[in-house]
Amino acid sequence: MVEDDPVEEEVVELGVGDTAGLIPDELSILPLRDNVLFPAVVAPLTVTREASVKLIDDAAVAENRIIGIVTLKDPTLEAPTFADLHPVGVAAAIRMMVKMQDGVRLIVHGLRRIRLEEPTQESPYIRARVIVEEEGQEFVGEEEVEVQALLRNTAANFQRVVQMSPNLPDELQAIPMNVRDPATLADLVAAHLPVGTDEKQEILEELDVRARLRKLAGLVQRELNVLEVGSKIQSEVSSEMTRMQREYFLREQLKAIQKELGEGDDRETEIRELREKIEASGMPEDARKEAERELERLQRMPPAAAEYTVSRTYLDWLTCLPWTTQTEDNLDIKDVRRVLDEDHYGLDKIKDRILEYLSVRKFKTEGDVRQPILCFSGPPGVGKTSLGKSIARALGRKFVRFSLGGMRDEAEIRGHRRTYIGALPGQIIQGMRRASSKNPVMMLDEIDKVGQDFRGDPSSALLEVLDPEQNVDFRDHYLDVPFNLSNVLFITTANVLDTILPPLRDRMEIIELAGYTEEEKIEIAKRHLIDKQRSEHGLPEEKLQWEDAAIRFLIGGYTREAGVRNLEREVAAITRKATREFAEGREEPMVVTTDQVRKYLGAPRFEFEEVQDRVSHAGVATGLAWTPFGGDVLFIEAMAMPGGDGRLTLTGQLGDVMKESAQAALSYVRAHGEELGLPDEYFKKHDVHIHVPAGAIPKDGPSAGVTMITAIGSLVSGRKLRPRVAMTGEITLTGRVLPVGGIKEKALAARRAGIREMILPERNRKDVDEEIPEQVKNSLTFHFVSEIGQVLKLALETTPSEEPPSGARPEPEEPATDGGREPEALPKPKPKPKRRPKTPVAVG
Ligand SMILES: Nc1ncnc2c1ncn2[C@@H]1O[C@H](COP(=O)(O)OP(=O)(O)OP(=O)(O)O)[C@@H](O)[C@H]1O
Ligand SMILES: [Mg+2]
Repeated sequence: MVEDDPVEEEVVELGVGDTAGLIPDELSILPLRDNVLFPAVVAPLTVTREASVKLIDDAAVAENRIIGIVTLKDPTLEAPTFADLHPVGVAAAIRMMVKMQDGVRLIVHGLRRIRLEEPTQESPYIRARVIVEEEGQEFVGEEEVEVQALLRNTAANFQRVVQMSPNLPDELQAIPMNVRDPATLADLVAAHLPVGTDEKQEILEELDVRARLRKLAGLVQRELNVLEVGSKIQSEVSSEMTRMQREYFLREQLKAIQKELGEGDDRETEIRELREKIEASGMPEDARKEAERELERLQRMPPAAAEYTVSRTYLDWLTCLPWTTQTEDNLDIKDVRRVLDEDHYGLDKIKDRILEYLSVRKFKTEGDVRQPILCFSGPPGVGKTSLGKSIARALGRKFVRFSLGGMRDEAEIRGHRRTYIGALPGQIIQGMRRASSKNPVMMLDEIDKVGQDFRGDPSSALLEVLDPEQNVDFRDHYLDVPFNLSNVLFITTANVLDTILPPLRDRMEIIELAGYTEEEKIEIAKRHLIDKQRSEHGLPEEKLQWEDAAIRFLIGGYTREAGVRNLEREVAAITRKATREFAEGREEPMVVTTDQVRKYLGAPRFEFEEVQDRVSHAGVATGLAWTPFGGDVLFIEAMAMPGGDGRLTLTGQLGDVMKESAQAALSYVRAHGEELGLPDEYFKKHDVHIHVPAGAIPKDGPSAGVTMITAIGSLVSGRKLRPRVAMTGEITLTGRVLPVGGIKEKALAARRAGIREMILPERNRKDVDEEIPEQVKNSLTFHFVSEIGQVLKLALETTPSEEPPSGARPEPEEPATDGGREPEALPKPKPKPKRRPKTPVAVG
């Protein structure tokens, strides 16, 4: 090993002690550029400068071939002088030299540090007097420990530097293992460390070995850090590179696959079509920006992503809305009137009002038309919805409707935010899309059924829709861009007015549609319902004719309603049965007669006799009630139970107001017992029970007051109710009769039920004059009263027909009883109005 490696061998041979004496006082100085030679290092050099070649030639023939090698302060100098040299260099032995064409190659071996004293010659090359530096080698105690620590640290770090640095041969890792001497190790490490010439020179000039080691340790550590950071950067860069390459590669593959499947083009076509749709939709600036932003996103998404569908659906919604499309209004008022008449019989006042409303639009064509929203209110089946449709038809507008009844959540009106899964726009925007015109007639049904169990504030959501001040930029949560609703003609419908939220009611023009009289119903049937059903069943007019009597019989015997919906249903039933007969071979035309109706529909469901039956005993009185379904007849029954102590029992689902009015009725009768011929102790011995049948239906309201007093009065006096009399009115404890509402509906109901005389408050006289149709006035007798005494006199037979309850003296005098008001029965199939969940009805 030693043989093969003469360098190692000589390092050992030429130890510091050995070589010191060989170094002459004066040396030829070979300047070195860009590098520093250290003692103990064997290094190759190439010499090309003429002066230097001469120096080597001369040295080669000299005795000991030792020269000084000193680094230049400035490596760029062409002809350096003594002054250009660093003050410290190395005395080196030339171990080998080879002459080349352009210079000399030699291998030199560093021996000892030398300090340049003074030049003895500058040309042709520099020679100088030198001093061989002594290096302190002895360490004791702490110094020893520090030197050892520095050595180990430097050795370990240096080995890592060699490992990590691609430019240093791995063999260098062996240096620390083979060299034990701290000074030599420091010099060897410094020689190979990839640091600048200046830093190496600094190490060379440091004669104190401990200080030299410290400096070196710092340099090695720094170098290690640089390498580590470098390798981190390197690995990051390369992983980023691989990711990008991978993605690029996959994308290319995807494109190839899509192309293979014929999809790539579809995608592009889709995006292009969407872009064209956005252009074509004419949406305003904000919406367009939003749409374009979404389209950008869509383009970047893979079609399989869930987000893609969401984004796509949103764009569909945006582009399908009627931003600019609209229909031309027909504002020819005469023509509008013609269409309304064509679709609906009667309703003259209402049609007039609608025409007035539309006339305003005729003259104010630009800008907002600040008109109140129309609200059609009335019982079911009176034509509210179909009037709305008819208005749309007359104006040449699109018609859309939806029901607010049962809506629980603001989101149903205004949509869900797009962040919810499956989010959609609310009903308003959905309606606009269905309408595909920005100026449809939009009907919001059942605005009276929007109530308190609504999440969010229904009136604010609805106002934003309906209020012309706010609906110019209506914002649906899903769309998230404003949509202009100001061209929409909104019409709302309601069965009951007092449950409509006040802020909404304020902005609406209420148009009331009361029920129809029998005569009106006959006309409606003749002009509309029968024709409609005939044509729906494909029967020519001459095949199926109706007698007037049959229609009247159908109305009286099979329907009891304010509107005509059931009537239409029954007409449909008969038409269907007739159609079947024709289908089964009947040839000759059919005329619907009373008998035919009975044959098809069975025995009549309603009879006038009912009223008569119900009041065939003392203690029962007939009242009139108003309900959201129109007017109705109701019976109040009173009974006295011996053995009690004057307590009052009430049954039949009565509301608080109605209970109080029963209490007031009883108090009045007790207070006026004498007039009714009751012994003082009558109520001390009897309990009274008042029942209002149809117990499943909640009833409330003060208007049954007169009826209750009449029932109790009849009971205690034994005088029965006169035939076919019905009444309505609120009472006071002092016996006055106060006015109530719903007079028209009540009168119609009375007539439907076969009542002939109606007792009602004096102060309702004007309602009768103004509202009640002539035919009804002609067939009903109205008695106006202001005192309870008048009611009892008018309502009860003059003589008792029954034993009054035990203990009462049946003196049929005119007692002072009171009038009652009516209660109201409420809802059957319809949801209750939300504001008064307990008791539905009410008049007053
Ligand atoms: N005056 C009328 N002339 C002709 N047909 C009528 C008239 N009034 C109602 N109708 C017909 O009666 C049927 C029921 O009317 P519609 O559905 O409009 O009732 P509505 O008032 O909206 O009831 P609801 O409160 O239950 O919604 C419809 O077929 C309608 O065309
Ligand atoms: Mg309706």
